[in-house]
Amino acid sequence: MVSLKPGPVNVGGITLNNHLLLAAGVLGTTGTSLARMLSLGAGGVVTKSIGPVPKEGHAGPCLVVLEDGLLNAMGLPNPSQDFIEELGTLSKQPVVASIFGGNPEEFATVAGWFKGKVSGFELNLSCPHAEGYGAAIGSDPALVEACTRAVSRTGVPTWVKLTPNVTDITAIGKAAERGGATAIVAINTLKAMRISTGLKRPVLGNRFGGLSGSAIFPVAVRCVYELYASCKIPIIGCGGIATADNVIEMMMAGARAVEIGSAVHDDVKIFETIAKELYSKNGIAAEEIVGCAHE
Ligand code: FUM
Repeated sequence: MVSLKPGPVNVGGITLNNHLLLAAGVLGTTGTSLARMLSLGAGGVVTKSIGPVPKEGHAGPCLVVLEDGLLNAMGLPNPSQDFIEELGTLSKQPVVASIFGGNPEEFATVAGWFKGKVSGFELNLSCPHAEGYGAAIGSDPALVEACTRAVSRTGVPTWVKLTPNVTDITAIGKAAERGGATAIVAINTLKAMRISTGLKRPVLGNRFGGLSGSAIFPVAVRCVYELYASCKIPIIGCGGIATADNVIEMMMAGARAVEIGSAVHDDVKIFETIAKELYSKNGIAAEEIVGCAHE
């Protein structure tokens, strides 16, 4: 396997300690857990998604472990503006605030609270099970462009996390780019469900949820590959990444960095495990392989 040169990297306007970020939604609800993931080797961390008003989330069960992934319908639970208190100890660290809103004005409001307190924003335009938020607006290119512009005009690096639950993900990626995004994150979870044959009921309280983990890795690779061929801004690969070889494959598809979520659920030291195999002092620059599968 190819190995990479270790050291800091700049992706979409944000300097990371390495190419491996903690994805939104996993251990991202407190400053302590975010700091812990940085100390365990994450090159940057993305917070739990924060919205314009406090939200309790969906009724449980909210998370089900499957054979090859996780099925969740948390319902975007978050403390809204009060989350600022969690960021106090993390100043100057590569912390990206995942934010959501139901329209451009709400995105601008939430971004305004966090400006100056984080390294950048990741717009959640992709949660597949939150009425009026996430993919409900992230499937419409005009809304994606307007929400992205409302945040990018703050001058803070603006990443946009895309939903795979659309016919043409490149149309959404190009809309984010027109709105001033500095990077695209691909992908969020796939809309999915399971039914308990014993109980004759859906396993999730919300019935529908989002599938993550190794089951969706091939979908994520396909989306990154298509986006790389259509967009100019950097792409951050996300979806089922669990090994150093997965990271290299994502880069070959076109990703400049990756986010890891479900694999952290299985192994909290996953960043160290991957980094040990991914980096070596004689490694090559990631630029040498990013997008090479297109040649
Ligand atoms: O429900 C949740 O908090 C999940 C968010 C997401 O999938 O983006």
